[in-house]
Amino acid sequence: MHSSQQYEINMNKTGLQLAERARDLVHSKAWHLLTKEEKKFVRNHYMGRQVFRGFYTDLQLSRLLTMLLKPLAGRLLEPSCGTGRLLEYLDRSKLQIVCCEIDRQAASICKSIYPEITLLTGDTLAKIDELRSQFDYVLANPPWGLRVNQYYDKYELFNVTPEKRSTALFLELCINALKPGGKCAIILPESYKSEEFSSVNNYVQNSSAVLAEIHFPKHVFFSSNILVSGYILILEKTTSFRNSYISSLDSWDINDLDWNEKLIENIVCEFENSQNSGKQ
Ligand SMILES: C[S@@+](CC[C@H](N)C(=O)[O-])C[C@H]1O[C@@H](n2cnc3c(N)ncnc32)[C@H](O)[C@@H]1O
Repeated sequence: MHSSQQYEINMNKTGLQLAERARDLVHSKAWHLLTKEEKKFVRNHYMGRQVFRGFYTDLQLSRLLTMLLKPLAGRLLEPSCGTGRLLEYLDRSKLQIVCCEIDRQAASICKSIYPEITLLTGDTLAKIDELRSQFDYVLANPPWGLRVNQYYDKYELFNVTPEKRSTALFLELCINALKPGGKCAIILPESYKSEEFSSVNNYVQNSSAVLAEIHFPKHVFFSSNILVSGYILILEKTTSFRNSYISSLDSWDINDLDWNEKLIENIVCEFENSQNSGKQ
């Protein structure tokens, strides 16, 4: 597997400097010797390896995903955890959390920040049998645009073009890892809706119900030094009909965190109403 598709890298100098400082801190001393403030700094600014598409989720976006997924108790999988940004707002005392990550440095930071998780290192795509139907929840921002050359004969979606395979196969793995009735929140690229992804869309439609589809504009990932737009999908592994809530984060403002909080509250409230009206 190697990096192929290029996304627009945002020349956010401050972000790059902060990431360098975070990396220096990690290399300067053992984790337990870092102060509380230094640990928080690493959590907020460490960037993973670009060769593995290590662009980590903005923490406000992470909160939105957790609020939409609402994982209260049970088993949760994060299949490509990086430093664990998607774990920050989970009630970790009530969940059994399994995380996977190929980048050992990022994985070790994740385990240091969130020692209660079970961490599996290495290639998650090779673990599909081990993970199958094991989880009540999956929370994922998988690597997009990584060329997958290795032959994974267990995947129905292996036939998508090599550049799209990492997105497609991770999505298949996430749905596969759910128990029947389990739910997944996943971040996908804009191209998910394109013709090239039609087989992926069909796979999603046949294996799950889309509870929510929320578009996000490029600048939402500004703090991760990449400019990419895409979708947050909330899926339920079921063949029954479910209401589908459609929305967008177009008014997201990187300079106004309070505004984003209001936007998040509003979206979560609308989403919950749409789910409740589907039950009547
Ligand atoms: C877009 S980042 C997201 C990280 C984290 N989920 C987050 O939201 O902040 C994708 C992650 O996938 C990891 N990754 C790439 N290929 C992988 C593979 N085959 N198995 C496991 N992890 C992988 C990268 O190292 C990177 O940390």
